[in-house]
Amino acid sequence: MNAPQSTLGQVAPTEAEFRAIAQLLSDTTGIVLAPGKTSMVQSRLAKRLRALGLATYKDYIALVSSEGGRDECRRMVSALTTNVTHFFRENHHFETLRQVVLPPLLEEARRGGRVRLWSAGSSNGQEAYSIAMTIAELAPDFATLNLRILATDIDPLMIEQGAKGSYPAAALEAVPEKLRKKYFRKEGENYQVVSNLRGLVQFRELNLHDRWPMRGKFDVIFCRNVVIYFAPAAQALLWERFEEQLTPGGYLFVGHSERVTDGKHSNLRTAGVTTYQLTNRTSRI
Ligand SMILES: C[S@@+](CC[C@H](N)C(=O)[O-])C[C@H]1O[C@@H](n2cnc3c(N)ncnc32)[C@H](O)[C@@H]1O
Repeated sequence: MNAPQSTLGQVAPTEAEFRAIAQLLSDTTGIVLAPGKTSMVQSRLAKRLRALGLATYKDYIALVSSEGGRDECRRMVSALTTNVTHFFRENHHFETLRQVVLPPLLEEARRGGRVRLWSAGSSNGQEAYSIAMTIAELAPDFATLNLRILATDIDPLMIEQGAKGSYPAAALEAVPEKLRKKYFRKEGENYQVVSNLRGLVQFRELNLHDRWPMRGKFDVIFCRNVVIYFAPAAQALLWERFEEQLTPGGYLFVGHSERVTDGKHSNLRTAGVTTYQLTNRTSRI
């Protein structure tokens, strides 16, 4: 007999089912779920089980592990990733951006140079638009420059939201009034980022553990509060890959509880709180 719809997902995953889900998540995203997060898994996946009419986690695991379950696997990742973010989070990074990092880059862009910034693990785009507002305040002529922000995340729902650039009023609390008036327009219940600022940011779905399709290097990379969920070896590998992806003198900003492990061959040097700069390779002994 089929379980009634209302009871689907109400039974907690068994220890073995939890481990299978944690393994799938870690294989796909690198995210390590601490043992004991069973109720978190249950509360986040119950809705999926209900939507699919599945009575057990065993059936759900079989589905997401199958060839035909790819889309559901992406939905599982969406449900299990933590997307917490806010505008101007860890504001000291935006101060460094404004005072130290951007002025020479904007000069370079005004001379016709190419400037690229990357919000890696961008969630719903609030980080990328905070960067965009910081740029626009310093360079009202930003639309005429060869300057772009790439925002990537593994979660397709976050990428969709970011591309829309539409946020509830509560999300705008961290945005100074002056910037709110200048860069957002009320649209129904929400506030949407104005179109010329949206034009500065390109949103793409990207799993940081996959191959990166970007050809050019970045002058600035924000990867904040993302690697904290990964195993130490995966973190170390990412730091190396970010280093490879930075232009000489480029900056890497990481989250408040993250540190770049100074590997033997690393040329990333501390340049402020959770801020790193790629030094000249030839100066390395
Ligand atoms: C806590 S949010 C941080 C958002 C923003 N960087 C900030 O600091 O406010 C972490 C984001 O990392 C994304 N993420 C997790 N694993 C990822 C992976 N393997 N590749 C790309 N993004 C990932 C999640 O989907 C989530 O949106």
